[in-house]
Amino acid sequence: MKKIAFFDTKPYDLSFFEKFGKGYKIKYFDNKLNADTAALAKGYDGVIAFVNDDISAAAVDKLYEGGVRVIALRSAGYNNVDFRAAYEKISVVRVPAYSPYAVAEHAAALLLTLNRKIHKAYNRTRDFDFRLSGLVGFDLRGKTIGVIGTGKIGRCFVDICKGFSMKVLAYDPYPAKDMDVEYTDLDTLLSESHIISLHCPLTESTRHMINADTIKTMRTGALVINTSRGQLIDSEQLLAALKSGKLGGAGLDVYEEESEFFFEDFSQTIVKDDILSLLVSLPNVILTSHQGFLTGEALENIAKTTIENLNEFFSDKKLTNEICYQCKTGDIGPNCEKRKATGRCF
Ligand code: NAI
Repeated sequence: MKKIAFFDTKPYDLSFFEKFGKGYKIKYFDNKLNADTAALAKGYDGVIAFVNDDISAAAVDKLYEGGVRVIALRSAGYNNVDFRAAYEKISVVRVPAYSPYAVAEHAAALLLTLNRKIHKAYNRTRDFDFRLSGLVGFDLRGKTIGVIGTGKIGRCFVDICKGFSMKVLAYDPYPAKDMDVEYTDLDTLLSESHIISLHCPLTESTRHMINADTIKTMRTGALVINTSRGQLIDSEQLLAALKSGKLGGAGLDVYEEESEFFFEDFSQTIVKDDILSLLVSLPNVILTSHQGFLTGEALENIAKTTIENLNEFFSDKKLTNEICYQCKTGDIGPNCEKRKATGRCF
């Protein structure tokens, strides 16, 4: 039976992986995977990793030396892996889609909570404070929402927004041909939208796409929702815009420096990240801890696909969900002669 090291294990992972992973000897580690902890996987055939594991070149080398030949990401995002280092050593597979609805619905939850100040009302009424002052929101109906990225999650979010009778503007360098939405350029989207929601991946070109310069072009009082990746936003400049009143609020499920904090309990600690502390303290910021994906349906799909990916790898089959630096999206790219011929990147 193949041995798999599972990193950054959380209680909600266990039941689903125990159900689908019976064909493997899985050791569950609490540790996040990085260059220091990669040695734990010595003697294992593969690892299962998550979004805040740091799979750098040094981590890849340690895994390879220890005998690991496959990294199965139990996530869609993969910006935390050094693919160039892994190429021709360790195959990397992921779960491209598990429930786009879960993330899109969470983005909607952040928007509704932020706009209607449910977080404040909840705390007040628990204290038998039934005043309404400070809780004024606005009708979503008729407002313009800018959706950046109309892939699997973005398109679900567009549908939700249409349900609220909002005017939807979309920006995507690869517009979907089968979608009934008004595409526009990024500048127009930023300047016309009352709400901006990010659904694009983190790449060199999208890193800090929300920054002081782009914020300047937005409507005063605009809301920003981010359920994609923290580094899409320059958080220091976001904080400045929230403090000055240029932006009306932010609903964040991700944060630039989240890997140090998210999924862990820091309630008994003085958190030393001042930007995070200030963001959390603002009344017009809602921060959740990368939980957009967290529904039972999504967790079941994640476990099922991760195990199917491992089954393909260990039975020398074509790897449906393999990614490498040559064809980053998992689609077969122009340099993928090898993959076209064998079904594997190397
Ligand atoms: P997808 O790959 O289906 O869609 C991404 C879309 O972004 C594509 O249409 C692509 O053309 C577009 N895009 C690429 N570069 C762009 C740019 N510069 N500007 C605007 N659009 C651009 O990905 P999916 O499944 O919709 O996921 C989107 C993101 O959501 C992921 O990259 C991941 O970071 C994040 N995510 C967050 C989760 C959470 O729990 N909060 C869970 C799953 C994904």
